[in-house]
Amino acid sequence: MQYEFCCDLIQEAKLHKILEEVVHVEQIINDQSLAAFGGKGRKMTVQVRNEEIHSGHLILINTGYPVRQKEGSEPLAPLSLHPEIREWHDGIQLEKTCFRQLTALLEASGGMDEIVVVSGYRTEEEQRSIYEQSLVDNGAAYTASYVALPNHSEHQTGLAVDVGKMRRDVDFIAPSFPDSGECRAFKELAADYGFIQRYKEGKRPITGIACEPWHFRYVGCPHARLIDQYDFCLEEYIDFLKAYKHDGPYLTTGYGCAAAEIYFVPADNGAVTNVPIVNGEAYRLSGNNVDGFIVTAFHEKG
Ligand code: DAL
Ligand code: ZN
Repeated sequence: MQYEFCCDLIQEAKLHKILEEVVHVEQIINDQSLAAFGGKGRKMTVQVRNEEIHSGHLILINTGYPVRQKEGSEPLAPLSLHPEIREWHDGIQLEKTCFRQLTALLEASGGMDEIVVVSGYRTEEEQRSIYEQSLVDNGAAYTASYVALPNHSEHQTGLAVDVGKMRRDVDFIAPSFPDSGECRAFKELAADYGFIQRYKEGKRPITGIACEPWHFRYVGCPHARLIDQYDFCLEEYIDFLKAYKHDGPYLTTGYGCAAAEIYFVPADNGAVTNVPIVNGEAYRLSGNNVDGFIVTAFHEKG
């Protein structure tokens, strides 16, 4: 996604401090998906190509909304960059921000030795082969519960990761991820690092997928915390945000000295949308993969 930088006067240290409060990351200034601009009360507009509604950390992928990103366009990183992370098989990759945040979450939860990364990014072809093999091994009902159709899996975005408790016989489709020890600590801290448990008990009528305690989806902060707070699944959150428009009221949230304001901008007819950016020191844009863009504007409280 293309971003414009309209103000290079923001002191990085100040921006860093604000974002650390909200986003809880170490290298936020290097985050390519974040753009800085003029500060509280300032307004600007960025022109975004409408095809960008299919990319960003908040894209919704399910039976109704397939993966529309071009394969190979995701910025991926191999887990082998951090040899201390346990991989169930060689060559697992994740979207770069998701990977950085997963590393920090594994460290914070003390799970580096006890938790194994079982699955990350998959191509459409890989998802198809997993789906077809599961039909043979597990049958249609089980497969419909736990494996997304090819081109409808968020694993194809690099933003989803399956984790399991380290043991000799990890189940690739449904790894054990108990509610105890390091796995529990990982789950409890996940939202602080931008992850949600994507498929929760009781949400199957909406998500189409049964409860998967092992499947975490990176959506970024502060969205993961809000999703937890409201006990939403991603489908409900994407829908909920549509009530918050650029002319307010915004969905606001704050931590320490920092605050974030969130709103939805529907895609215009035609090739581009003019997305108003209001009231922030920095902002992040994501498509929702449905019909528009979600703006998250960060600023100092007060
Ligand atoms: N296990 C999830 C639903 C997937 O296959 O994407
Ligand atoms: Zn998964």
